[in-house]
Amino acid sequence: MTSERTQVAIIGAGPAGLLLGQLMHRHGIEAVILEARSREYVEARIRAGVLEQGTMEVLREAGVGERMEREGLVHRGIYLCFDHVLHHIPMTELTHGRSVMIYGQTEVVKDLIEARQKAGAPLLFECEDVTVEGLEHDEPVVRYRHGGAEHELRCDIVAGCDGFHGVCRPTIPEDALTVWERGYPYAWLGILADVPPSTDELIYAYSDRGFALHSMRSLTRSRLYVQVDPDEEIAEWPDDRIWSELHQRLASDGWELAEGPILEKGITPMRSFVAAPMRYRSLMLAGDAAHIVPPTGAKGLNLAVADVTVLADALIGHLTAGSDTGLDEYSDRCLTRVWRAQHFSWFMTTMLHLDHSDDTYGRQLQRSQLRYVTTSTAAATSLAENYVGLTLEQTAPAGATP
Ligand code: FAD
Ligand code: PHB
Repeated sequence: MTSERTQVAIIGAGPAGLLLGQLMHRHGIEAVILEARSREYVEARIRAGVLEQGTMEVLREAGVGERMEREGLVHRGIYLCFDHVLHHIPMTELTHGRSVMIYGQTEVVKDLIEARQKAGAPLLFECEDVTVEGLEHDEPVVRYRHGGAEHELRCDIVAGCDGFHGVCRPTIPEDALTVWERGYPYAWLGILADVPPSTDELIYAYSDRGFALHSMRSLTRSRLYVQVDPDEEIAEWPDDRIWSELHQRLASDGWELAEGPILEKGITPMRSFVAAPMRYRSLMLAGDAAHIVPPTGAKGLNLAVADVTVLADALIGHLTAGSDTGLDEYSDRCLTRVWRAQHFSWFMTTMLHLDHSDDTYGRQLQRSQLRYVTTSTAAATSLAENYVGLTLEQTAPAGATP
């Protein structure tokens, strides 16, 4: 058994853990990142694709924005499609010049891993049986197995960045957490296709057959989704069936969807979830470890980045100046933003998906809301400012230390 010490033990090498590691490194704070999966697995896991302006700025300031600037696609609007008509929401015009960047989570993760390796900072893949102990006595110890040997890592703070199914949140005593949750009667079947996008900006489509989304990863790769039942098997969806649904759901006058070879496909369940507070003694939760949103608002990755930005400041204050204010305010600071994103993600999801019941009243409400956001500047502005992302100042809790 080896025993080591560090300042911050970061569990999980998703966007949250890797970015926190990068921010710690830039401020001269020692951290060790422990990841359960292999590097190949983590780098290939296809997930989010839309970065808010604030996320781009954080990545740039963290010194990992160079390839994103070169290869990312700046988008200044989205389309909402219903009744086979495309309606443009000019987000940049409505938000004093703010925009989003299309750049895959896989690429963000690759850039962060490369930066950490270049810095020679510790990042261990394929760690088994990670446990967090000693929180009750404020002497946190993380134990894990790596390379066939047992290890013990003592630290000042544990950052639980291990996603929704991780070990950190379950370590917290049940009576110390409050949980809010909502399930949805649908899931997304997503594909990555080797074909140039058929659209310049993302199309979110409401149709009688269910929701569809046309997104992209580059000028040559399209990412598309169709709403399916949550218990659907991917084997029931041969490529022809997927394309047929996409054609029907995305159809609009004078527009054509181009097909190409499908490189990857999978089904993602949908859930809304918040656990609070996001701190238990010296364990800080960040990203999906503390909250989940359905992907319709494109907020999951952006929330993880926002949490970590606040957490990095708090850790710098604690470890370099001995101030606990940041750590004490961390959870409240994050949660105001988290709940805004929860509401927006729920709003986009319920406006755009069919629940397959005969709820004709509900469908009339959806159509009314779609007409409203596509005809009223006030309603479109509300959608746009949430989509491009509110600033950290806009979501600061009342009375927080600036
Ligand atoms: P994660 O990315 O989940 O990273 C957590 C890391 O911790 C993982 O690498 C995991 O392997 C590791 N880990 C877990 N347990 C342990 C352990 N015991 N020990 C050590 N390491 C551990 N958001 C969008 O905005 N748009 C999308 O299209 C979208 N699609 C998604 C599809 C799927 C299948 C999922 C699960 C999420 C999707 N999201 C999407 C959400 C978005 O990807 C997440 O919000 C984002 O990944 C959160 O980052 P994170 O670092 O908090 O968590
Ligand atoms: C994606 O490109 O994967 C994507 C884009 C927008 C969303 C969700 C996912 O709302």
